[in-house]
Amino acid sequence: MDRAVFDKRMSEYILAIENRLNTFFSHGVSGTEKLKDAVLYSLLAGGKRIRPVLVLEFSRALGFNWENAIDTACAVELIHTYSLIHDDLPCMDNDDMRRGKPSCHKAFGEDVAVLAGDALLTHAFGMISDSAPHKISYESACRVISLFSRYSGIDGMIGGQILDISADGKDVDADELKKIELLKTSALIILSCKAGCIIANADEEKLKAAEVYGENLGLAFQVIDDVLDVEGDEKLLGKATGSDIKRDKSTYVDLLGIDEAKSYSRQLTNKAIESLYPIKDNEFLASLAEFLVSRNF
Ligand code: IPE
Ligand code: IPE
Ligand code: MG
Ligand code: MG
Ligand code: MG
Repeated sequence: MDRAVFDKRMSEYILAIENRLNTFFSHGVSGTEKLKDAVLYSLLAGGKRIRPVLVLEFSRALGFNWENAIDTACAVELIHTYSLIHDDLPCMDNDDMRRGKPSCHKAFGEDVAVLAGDALLTHAFGMISDSAPHKISYESACRVISLFSRYSGIDGMIGGQILDISADGKDVDADELKKIELLKTSALIILSCKAGCIIANADEEKLKAAEVYGENLGLAFQVIDDVLDVEGDEKLLGKATGSDIKRDKSTYVDLLGIDEAKSYSRQLTNKAIESLYPIKDNEFLASLAEFLVSRNF
Protein backbone atom coordinates (compact mmCIF):
# COMPACT_ATOMS: atom_id res chain seq x y z
CA MET A 1 0.00 0.00 0.00
CA ASP A 2 1.18 3.51 -0.78
CA ARG A 3 2.89 4.96 2.31
CA ALA A 4 0.80 8.14 2.32
CA VAL A 5 -2.45 6.15 2.21
CA PHE A 6 -1.19 3.91 5.03
CA ASP A 7 -0.15 6.89 7.17
CA LYS A 8 -3.46 8.63 6.62
CA ARG A 9 -5.53 5.64 7.71
CA MET A 10 -3.23 4.99 10.66
CA SER A 11 -3.61 8.62 11.83
CA GLU A 12 -7.38 8.45 11.45
CA TYR A 13 -7.54 5.31 13.59
CA ILE A 14 -5.18 6.68 16.24
CA LEU A 15 -7.13 9.92 16.49
CA ALA A 16 -10.39 8.00 16.99
CA ILE A 17 -8.74 5.76 19.62
CA GLU A 18 -7.21 8.68 21.54
CA ASN A 19 -10.50 10.60 21.46
CA ARG A 20 -12.38 7.64 22.87
CA LEU A 21 -9.75 6.86 25.52
CA ASN A 22 -9.98 10.49 26.65
CA THR A 23 -13.61 9.98 27.64
CA PHE A 24 -12.89 7.03 29.96
CA PHE A 25 -12.95 7.23 33.74
CA SER A 26 -14.59 10.64 33.53
CA HIS A 27 -16.43 10.05 36.78
CA GLY A 28 -15.79 7.90 39.79
CA VAL A 29 -16.57 7.57 43.45
CA SER A 30 -15.20 10.53 45.40
CA GLY A 31 -11.89 9.71 47.04
CA THR A 32 -10.67 7.67 44.07
CA GLU A 33 -9.13 10.66 42.29
CA LYS A 34 -5.54 9.53 42.81
CA LEU A 35 -6.30 6.13 41.32
CA LYS A 36 -8.09 7.73 38.38
CA ASP A 37 -5.10 10.01 37.82
CA ALA A 38 -2.77 6.99 37.79
CA VAL A 39 -4.96 5.12 35.31
CA LEU A 40 -5.16 8.10 32.94
CA TYR A 41 -1.46 8.87 33.38
CA SER A 42 -0.53 5.49 31.93
CA LEU A 43 -3.37 5.15 29.46
CA LEU A 44 -2.94 8.56 27.84
CA ALA A 45 0.87 8.56 27.80
CA GLY A 46 1.00 7.58 24.14
CA GLY A 47 2.07 4.19 22.89
CA LYS A 48 1.80 2.82 19.41
CA ARG A 49 -1.86 1.74 19.78
CA ILE A 50 -1.19 -1.25 17.53
CA ARG A 51 -3.71 -3.58 19.15
CA PRO A 52 -6.74 -1.26 18.86
CA VAL A 53 -5.69 -0.42 15.29
CA LEU A 54 -5.84 -4.15 14.49
CA VAL A 55 -9.38 -4.42 15.87
CA LEU A 56 -10.54 -1.46 13.79
CA GLU A 57 -8.81 -2.56 10.59
CA PHE A 58 -9.97 -6.19 10.71
CA SER A 59 -13.53 -5.00 11.25
CA ARG A 60 -13.25 -2.50 8.37
CA ALA A 61 -11.55 -4.95 5.97
CA LEU A 62 -14.42 -7.38 6.55
CA GLY A 63 -17.12 -4.85 5.76
CA PHE A 64 -18.07 -3.44 9.18
CA ASN A 65 -18.38 0.28 10.00
CA TRP A 66 -15.15 0.45 12.02
CA GLU A 67 -16.26 3.44 14.08
CA ASN A 68 -18.67 1.12 15.86
CA ALA A 69 -15.79 -1.19 16.86
CA ILE A 70 -14.08 1.62 18.81
CA ASP A 71 -15.10 0.48 22.31
CA THR A 72 -13.85 -3.05 21.73
CA ALA A 73 -10.64 -1.63 20.24
CA CYS A 74 -10.08 0.59 23.28
CA ALA A 75 -10.88 -2.32 25.60
CA VAL A 76 -7.81 -4.18 24.26
CA GLU A 77 -5.72 -1.06 24.89
CA LEU A 78 -6.96 -0.99 28.51
CA ILE A 79 -5.86 -4.57 29.02
CA HIS A 80 -2.54 -3.94 27.28
CA THR A 81 -1.87 -0.83 29.41
CA TYR A 82 -2.68 -2.75 32.59
CA SER A 83 -0.22 -5.47 31.50
CA LEU A 84 2.50 -2.84 31.05
CA ILE A 85 1.88 -1.22 34.46
CA HIS A 86 2.18 -4.60 36.19
CA ASP A 87 5.09 -5.70 33.95
CA ASP A 88 7.13 -2.69 35.13
CA LEU A 89 6.63 -3.32 38.87
CA PRO A 90 9.74 -4.03 40.97
CA CYS A 91 8.53 -7.62 41.52
CA MET A 92 8.33 -8.11 37.71
CA ASP A 93 10.74 -6.36 35.29
CA ASN A 94 11.48 -3.46 37.64
CA ASP A 95 11.51 -0.80 34.92
CA ASP A 96 11.44 2.90 35.78
CA MET A 97 10.40 4.37 32.42
CA ARG A 98 7.40 3.64 30.23
CA ARG A 99 5.96 5.52 27.28
CA GLY A 100 8.48 8.32 27.80
CA LYS A 101 7.56 8.98 31.43
CA PRO A 102 8.33 7.47 34.85
CA SER A 103 6.50 4.14 35.17
CA CYS A 104 3.16 4.19 36.98
CA HIS A 105 4.63 2.87 40.25
CA LYS A 106 7.44 5.45 40.11
CA ALA A 107 4.93 8.27 39.76
CA PHE A 108 2.16 7.00 42.08
CA GLY A 109 3.67 4.25 44.25
CA GLU A 110 3.41 0.48 43.94
CA ASP A 111 0.11 0.17 45.79
CA VAL A 112 -1.66 2.59 43.46
CA ALA A 113 0.01 1.06 40.37
CA VAL A 114 -1.29 -2.43 41.23
CA LEU A 115 -4.79 -1.01 41.64
CA ALA A 116 -4.52 1.08 38.46
CA GLY A 117 -3.84 -2.14 36.55
CA ASP A 118 -6.79 -3.84 38.25
CA ALA A 119 -9.05 -0.90 37.40
CA LEU A 120 -8.08 -1.00 33.72
CA LEU A 121 -8.62 -4.75 33.46
CA THR A 122 -12.06 -4.72 35.04
CA HIS A 123 -13.21 -1.67 33.09
CA ALA A 124 -12.40 -3.33 29.75
CA PHE A 125 -15.16 -5.92 29.95
CA GLY A 126 -17.88 -3.34 30.64
CA MET A 127 -16.70 -1.29 27.68
CA ILE A 128 -17.51 -4.16 25.35
CA SER A 129 -20.85 -5.17 26.85
CA ASP A 130 -22.04 -1.55 27.10
CA SER A 131 -21.41 -1.04 23.37
CA ALA A 132 -24.16 -3.59 22.57
CA PRO A 133 -26.66 -3.42 20.99
CA HIS A 134 -26.06 0.09 19.57
CA LYS A 135 -22.56 -0.40 18.16
CA ILE A 136 -22.14 -4.19 18.07
CA SER A 137 -24.68 -6.99 18.44
CA TYR A 138 -25.28 -8.75 21.76
CA GLU A 139 -24.06 -11.95 20.16
CA SER A 140 -20.78 -10.35 19.04
CA ALA A 141 -20.30 -8.80 22.48
CA CYS A 142 -20.74 -12.14 24.18
CA ARG A 143 -18.30 -13.90 21.83
CA VAL A 144 -15.76 -11.08 22.10
CA ILE A 145 -15.92 -11.04 25.92
CA SER A 146 -15.24 -14.77 25.94
CA LEU A 147 -12.19 -14.21 23.70
CA PHE A 148 -10.96 -11.40 25.93
CA SER A 149 -11.12 -13.62 28.98
CA ARG A 150 -9.28 -16.48 27.24
CA TYR A 151 -6.49 -14.50 25.56
CA SER A 152 -5.82 -12.16 28.49
CA GLY A 153 -5.82 -14.74 31.23
CA ILE A 154 -3.94 -17.80 32.40
CA ASP A 155 -4.18 -19.49 28.98
CA GLY A 156 -3.05 -16.26 27.32
CA MET A 157 -1.04 -13.17 28.26
CA ILE A 158 -0.93 -13.80 32.02
CA GLY A 159 0.15 -17.41 31.44
CA GLY A 160 2.92 -16.05 29.21
CA GLN A 161 4.04 -13.59 31.86
CA ILE A 162 4.48 -16.31 34.49
CA LEU A 163 6.37 -18.52 32.01
CA ASP A 164 8.49 -15.48 31.08
CA ILE A 165 9.54 -14.65 34.63
CA SER A 166 10.03 -18.32 35.45
CA ALA A 167 12.54 -18.52 32.57
CA ASP A 168 14.71 -15.69 33.98
CA GLY A 169 18.29 -16.84 34.32
CA LYS A 170 17.59 -20.15 32.57
CA ASP A 171 18.60 -21.49 29.16
CA VAL A 172 15.43 -22.09 27.21
CA ASP A 173 15.32 -23.70 23.76
CA ALA A 174 13.57 -22.33 20.66
CA ASP A 175 10.35 -24.29 21.27
CA GLU A 176 10.04 -23.13 24.85
CA LEU A 177 10.75 -19.52 23.95
CA LYS A 178 8.15 -19.64 21.17
CA LYS A 179 5.58 -21.01 23.61
CA ILE A 180 6.31 -18.15 26.04
CA GLU A 181 6.13 -15.41 23.40
CA LEU A 182 2.98 -16.80 21.77
CA LEU A 183 1.24 -16.37 25.10
CA LYS A 184 2.97 -13.28 26.48
CA THR A 185 2.78 -11.14 23.35
CA SER A 186 0.90 -12.84 20.50
CA ALA A 187 -2.16 -13.58 22.65
CA LEU A 188 -3.36 -9.94 22.89
CA ILE A 189 -2.48 -9.40 19.22
CA ILE A 190 -4.44 -12.49 18.11
CA LEU A 191 -7.27 -11.30 20.34
CA SER A 192 -7.30 -7.93 18.57
CA CYS A 193 -7.40 -9.51 15.10
CA LYS A 194 -10.11 -12.03 15.99
CA ALA A 195 -12.25 -9.49 17.86
CA GLY A 196 -12.36 -7.32 14.71
CA CYS A 197 -13.41 -10.37 12.68
CA ILE A 198 -16.14 -11.42 15.08
CA ILE A 199 -17.66 -7.95 15.18
CA ALA A 200 -17.79 -8.06 11.37
CA ASN A 201 -19.38 -11.54 11.41
CA ALA A 202 -16.46 -13.15 9.58
CA ASP A 203 -16.56 -16.83 8.56
CA GLU A 204 -14.26 -19.52 10.00
CA GLU A 205 -11.73 -19.28 7.17
CA LYS A 206 -11.18 -15.56 7.80
CA LEU A 207 -11.05 -16.05 11.56
CA LYS A 208 -8.35 -18.67 11.09
CA ALA A 209 -6.40 -16.34 8.78
CA ALA A 210 -6.62 -13.62 11.44
CA GLU A 211 -5.33 -16.03 14.05
CA VAL A 212 -2.30 -17.10 11.99
CA TYR A 213 -1.55 -13.47 11.07
CA GLY A 214 -1.78 -12.46 14.75
CA GLU A 215 0.44 -15.33 15.90
CA ASN A 216 3.23 -14.47 13.48
CA LEU A 217 2.86 -10.70 13.79
CA GLY A 218 3.00 -11.05 17.58
CA LEU A 219 6.14 -13.20 17.49
CA ALA A 220 7.84 -10.80 15.07
CA PHE A 221 6.77 -7.92 17.32
CA GLN A 222 8.41 -9.49 20.38
CA VAL A 223 11.60 -10.39 18.47
CA ILE A 224 11.96 -6.72 17.45
CA ASP A 225 11.15 -5.62 21.02
CA ASP A 226 14.03 -7.86 22.19
CA VAL A 227 16.35 -6.44 19.49
CA LEU A 228 15.45 -2.85 20.44
CA ASP A 229 16.14 -3.63 24.09
CA VAL A 230 19.75 -4.16 22.98
CA GLU A 231 20.29 -1.65 20.21
CA GLY A 232 17.36 0.76 20.38
CA ASP A 233 17.35 4.44 21.35
CA GLU A 234 15.80 5.03 24.79
CA LYS A 235 14.38 8.39 23.72
CA LEU A 236 12.54 6.90 20.74
CA LEU A 237 11.42 3.83 22.67
CA GLY A 238 10.26 5.76 25.74
CA LYS A 239 11.63 2.98 27.95
CA ALA A 240 15.06 1.90 29.15
CA THR A 241 17.23 -0.34 27.02
CA GLY A 242 19.40 -3.09 28.53
CA SER A 243 16.54 -4.17 30.80
CA ASP A 244 16.54 -7.79 29.55
CA ILE A 245 20.27 -8.31 30.03
CA LYS A 246 20.11 -6.81 33.50
CA ARG A 247 17.51 -9.37 34.54
CA ASP A 248 19.13 -12.21 32.58
CA LYS A 249 15.91 -12.71 30.64
CA SER A 250 15.43 -15.37 28.00
CA THR A 251 14.93 -13.47 24.76
CA TYR A 252 15.32 -14.06 21.03
CA VAL A 253 18.51 -12.04 21.02
CA ASP A 254 19.85 -14.24 23.78
CA LEU A 255 18.92 -17.38 21.85
CA LEU A 256 19.81 -16.39 18.27
CA GLY A 257 22.03 -13.31 18.39
CA ILE A 258 21.06 -9.94 16.89
CA ASP A 259 21.44 -10.74 13.18
CA GLU A 260 19.61 -14.05 13.27
CA ALA A 261 16.90 -12.56 15.44
CA LYS A 262 16.36 -9.88 12.79
CA SER A 263 16.16 -12.40 9.99
CA TYR A 264 13.75 -14.51 12.07
CA SER A 265 11.49 -11.46 12.50
CA ARG A 266 11.56 -11.01 8.70
CA GLN A 267 10.52 -14.65 8.16
CA LEU A 268 7.69 -14.31 10.67
CA THR A 269 6.51 -11.11 9.01
CA ASN A 270 6.45 -12.83 5.61
CA LYS A 271 4.39 -15.67 7.12
CA ALA A 272 1.98 -13.16 8.65
CA ILE A 273 1.49 -11.44 5.30
CA GLU A 274 1.05 -14.73 3.39
CA SER A 275 -1.65 -15.85 5.81
CA LEU A 276 -3.85 -12.91 4.80
CA TYR A 277 -4.95 -14.35 1.43
CA PRO A 278 -8.55 -15.26 2.50
CA ILE A 279 -9.08 -11.57 3.32
CA LYS A 280 -9.38 -9.67 0.04
CA ASP A 281 -8.91 -6.13 1.35
CA ASN A 282 -5.62 -6.89 3.08
CA GLU A 283 -3.18 -4.22 1.91
CA PHE A 284 -3.22 -2.14 5.08
CA LEU A 285 -2.65 -5.24 7.23
CA ALA A 286 0.32 -6.24 5.05
CA SER A 287 1.76 -2.72 5.29
CA LEU A 288 1.24 -2.72 9.05
CA ALA A 289 3.35 -5.89 9.35
CA GLU A 290 6.11 -4.21 7.29
CA PHE A 291 5.86 -1.04 9.37
CA LEU A 292 6.24 -3.00 12.62
CA VAL A 293 9.20 -5.11 11.56
CA SER A 294 11.18 -2.08 10.45
CA ARG A 295 10.29 0.10 13.47
CA ASN A 296 12.86 1.76 15.70
CA PHE A 297 10.39 2.72 18.48
C1 IPE B 1 5.22 -3.49 24.72
O1 IPE B 1 4.17 -3.30 23.83
C2 IPE B 1 5.11 -4.85 25.33
C3 IPE B 1 5.35 -5.94 24.40
C4 IPE B 1 4.48 -6.85 24.19
C5 IPE B 1 6.63 -6.06 23.71
P1 IPE B 1 4.14 -2.07 22.83
O2 IPE B 1 5.49 -1.94 22.17
O3 IPE B 1 2.98 -2.22 21.94
O4 IPE B 1 3.94 -0.84 23.82
P2 IPE B 1 3.23 0.55 23.56
O5 IPE B 1 1.76 0.30 23.65
O6 IPE B 1 3.65 1.05 22.21
O7 IPE B 1 3.71 1.43 24.68
C1 IPE C 1 5.98 -7.64 28.10
O1 IPE C 1 7.16 -8.01 27.44
C2 IPE C 1 4.81 -8.30 27.56
C3 IPE C 1 3.60 -8.00 28.38
C4 IPE C 1 2.67 -8.86 28.49
C5 IPE C 1 3.46 -6.73 29.10
P1 IPE C 1 8.41 -7.12 27.85
O2 IPE C 1 8.64 -7.17 29.31
O3 IPE C 1 9.55 -7.46 26.95
O4 IPE C 1 7.86 -5.67 27.43
P2 IPE C 1 8.66 -4.31 27.67
O5 IPE C 1 10.00 -4.46 26.95
O6 IPE C 1 8.80 -4.14 29.15
O7 IPE C 1 7.78 -3.28 27.03
MG1 MG D 1 8.26 -8.49 30.90
MG1 MG E 1 9.09 -5.47 30.59
MG1 MG F 1 10.92 -5.99 26.15
